[in-house]
Amino acid sequence: MASRWADDEADKAEALRRKQDKEEKKRLKLQKQQQAGEAARAAKEASERPAKRRRLSNSEDATTEDTARTPKDPEKERKLLRFEGGRWAPCHHRSNFETLNHIEEGSYGWVSRAKDIATSQVVALKKVKMDYNQDGFPITALREIAILQKARHPNIVDLKEVVSGDTTEECVLVMEFLEHDLKTLQEDMHDPFVASEVKTLLRQLAGGVAFLHDNYIMHRDLKTSNILLNNRGQLKLADFGMARYIPPPSAPLTQLVVTLWYRAPELLLGTPNYGTEVDMWSMGCVMGELLLKTPVLPGTNEVDQLSRIFSLCGLPEEKSWPGFWRLPNAPSLKLPRGQRNKQSFDRTRFPFLSGAGVELLSSLLSLNPDDRPTAKAVLEHDYFREQPKPKPSEMFPTFPSKAGQEKRRKQSPHAPKRGDAPGLGKVDFSSIFSAQEEGEKGAGFMLKMA
Ligand SMILES: Nc1ncnc2c1ncn2[C@@H]1O[C@H](COP(=O)(O)OP(=O)(O)O)[C@@H](O)[C@H]1O
Ligand SMILES: [Mg+2]
Repeated sequence: MASRWADDEADKAEALRRKQDKEEKKRLKLQKQQQAGEAARAAKEASERPAKRRRLSNSEDATTEDTARTPKDPEKERKLLRFEGGRWAPCHHRSNFETLNHIEEGSYGWVSRAKDIATSQVVALKKVKMDYNQDGFPITALREIAILQKARHPNIVDLKEVVSGDTTEECVLVMEFLEHDLKTLQEDMHDPFVASEVKTLLRQLAGGVAFLHDNYIMHRDLKTSNILLNNRGQLKLADFGMARYIPPPSAPLTQLVVTLWYRAPELLLGTPNYGTEVDMWSMGCVMGELLLKTPVLPGTNEVDQLSRIFSLCGLPEEKSWPGFWRLPNAPSLKLPRGQRNKQSFDRTRFPFLSGAGVELLSSLLSLNPDDRPTAKAVLEHDYFREQPKPKPSEMFPTFPSKAGQEKRRKQSPHAPKRGDAPGLGKVDFSSIFSAQEEGEKGAGFMLKMA
């Protein structure tokens, strides 16, 4: 019989080995469980994580998975990732351009035709006139540069760059060159534009103005000499010296804006608040001028201007223009009593214009600014849908360019200068009205000093 001690010893050793085996198995099992848990967690996280980090380059070695998950259009992707910082570089010098001929000396600058020596491209240069009575850089030029840089549109002249001259005071705007402005062109034409051509021009004008107004910009000096035309029948707005962003309501605005012949009645009557409607009035004047080949309302001063306006568009009435009498300069007008009801548009001045055309023109020339259509509404007007349809730009006739020749001289008023007296205050009413009393009676009404 084996001794109990011996059994005990053997049993003990056997029990210890079994215990160790058991513990080892337990440890292995726990380890396995831990590993499985970690793998499951990792898998879960992977499925919840956003679909890969965005690729930062367009390099060819990107994985196919990357390519599948990032946008295919590289332009879109670039737009997402572009952080534009300001870039500083010296202006080009004026000497990079060779002057070909002078075009015009305007109120705020000298314009000439020039050639970019490096590229042989013909451009228009507008040298800013420094106003030595005022401190600093002229505000008109600052506004023109700032607004032209933002206003990129097929019907707005393209500002290419601004160059400097030998002195810091020489600042020149480099713009695309267009062969004509509508004023000089019409002065040289034998006959007015035909109806389909007027429509082509007017539609482009309304397109440019609609873009400006959509972007909260008022031009404030629309007139035929500020509207350019190239020999491909493309019209572009120019001269943004008077332009500005629309301010918040009730912010003060300069009243002395827009060249007299194209100035809206509310401005002549000294309104403290006005809006894009002043451009729509000017557009009406331009439309009439394109039809007649001559300015529609060529007033000699503010009072004469109002007199011509009332003669064409009728007299203002409280009913058709509520608040008219409360405008600052309105009390100084005495409107003839017997004629008060004359407030219709005198369409006999435009005998060849269709019904839709008269409707458009008379609505643009509404005395009450609220009755004028927006530029967008003009684009939708029936006038452009009826026969004759607007002539395609590429079919537009070409004309010899005066801007490509010697300097021209014109007889028409300039944009108002800063510092001129606004409104009717400084006009000698008595002499003007005494002259008009006789002359204007025939037109069906007269204006008198109160
Ligand atoms: N980009 C241009 N291409 C051709 N002629 C131009 C151009 N810009 C202006 N002009 C001509 O110069 C004239 C004066 O330019 P404008 O910008 O109106 O200056 P101002 O502020 O002095 O009136 C215009 O009436 C037009 O005849
Ligand atoms: Mg001008």
